[in-house]
Amino acid sequence: MNILVTGGAGYIGSHTCIALLEAGHKIIVADNLCNSKAETVDKIKQITNKEVTFYQIDVTDEKALDYVFSNHSIDGVIHFAGLKSVGESVEKPLEYYYNNLVATMVLCKACRNYGVKKFVFSSSATVYGDNRVPFEEAMKLLPTTNPYGETKTMIERILTDIAKVSQDWSVALLRYFNPVGAHESGLIGEAPNGVPNNLMPYITKVAKGELEKLYIFGDDYPTVDGTGVRDYIHVMDIAEGHVAALDKLTSGVHIYNLGTGEGTSVLQLVKTFEEVNNIEIPYEIVERRTGDIAICYADTSKAKKELGWTTKRGIVEMCRDSWAFKTNYKG
Ligand code: NAD
Ligand code: UFG
Repeated sequence: MNILVTGGAGYIGSHTCIALLEAGHKIIVADNLCNSKAETVDKIKQITNKEVTFYQIDVTDEKALDYVFSNHSIDGVIHFAGLKSVGESVEKPLEYYYNNLVATMVLCKACRNYGVKKFVFSSSATVYGDNRVPFEEAMKLLPTTNPYGETKTMIERILTDIAKVSQDWSVALLRYFNPVGAHESGLIGEAPNGVPNNLMPYITKVAKGELEKLYIFGDDYPTVDGTGVRDYIHVMDIAEGHVAALDKLTSGVHIYNLGTGEGTSVLQLVKTFEEVNNIEIPYEIVERRTGDIAICYADTSKAKKELGWTTKRGIVEMCRDSWAFKTNYKG
């Protein structure tokens, strides 16, 4: 299939491009590079030895997107393009609602105009809010604590309503848990600018000596060691989950958790990172971070049953590959 990948130069998008190319699909990447670099597209070509068509466009720009659709016979879209920083979304709600919602609606209009009926969307486990674990797809969604999370809930709703009236549309809402790690080549991975918000990029910066120590947000949660528990998933497993979803997509709206089903605490992740890479990570326990939940992990049975997809990599690989990318990365 010819797949349009919005946000394909970003962290999860670029890994998914590799998995798509390796599965025999052709890809067209549309990204405005607001949080990524054009050289990532070259790395995708280098890793796969395949062609990638790249458009540096903003997906909110109707004319620019129309040009892309008119130039290619697109069979399906995977929509990664969006702003994703939880904290920044509280500071800049308008930018987040505008970018994430308008990009999705403009993309849906283009799909309708050009008869593209397969749509895969990057949602997030954040839509479950503080439900009981494990999170199951059928659960009633609870409010998230920030505009970023609300954009995910709203976009899920928009796509569901569209699919209700356009019954030949096939929509997959993929709820990612905590993507970490990097491609095995060490050539692409997650490289946030400045001080990272997320745990793994923070750990690798401490490991490289770019930050002095890790601040662990709270050790008084009702968990194995008091620190927050998350379902970390290797980004290449997430990438392969998209290929599985695309291949199995049938009409209607299908929601899948992309997680491992295993919870890991902050301290467990830090320990594993230290052991796997033989590097000490100095840390200090500080106050809880506002908006954090104690425990988050997936029920993965639906994706396994319906997509035949399960994760192949564990936290050892996640720690190893994150560090390999970080040691390689110059930027
Ligand atoms: P990322 O920032 O690395 O990738 C997003 C890409 O979209 C970037 O390359 C950015 O330049 C591009 N982009 C943003 N707005 C755009 C626009 N209007 N037009 C064109 N391009 C635009 O983020 P990521 O971690 O790869 O996340 C991809 C998607 O997955 C996002 O929608 C994110 O919300 C979702 N997600 C991420 C996580 C996570 O922890 N990384 C968890 C759950 C869901
Ligand atoms: N943590 C620290 N110190 C840090 C960073 C994080 O102790 O410097 C802790 C957090 O308190 C939490 C765990 O590490 O317990 C994971 O935190 P992340 O910020 O890495 O991830 P979150 O689970 O908070 O959020 C991530 C994405 C969201 C997405 C969500 C889905 O950032 O976009 O997973 O579950 F919605």
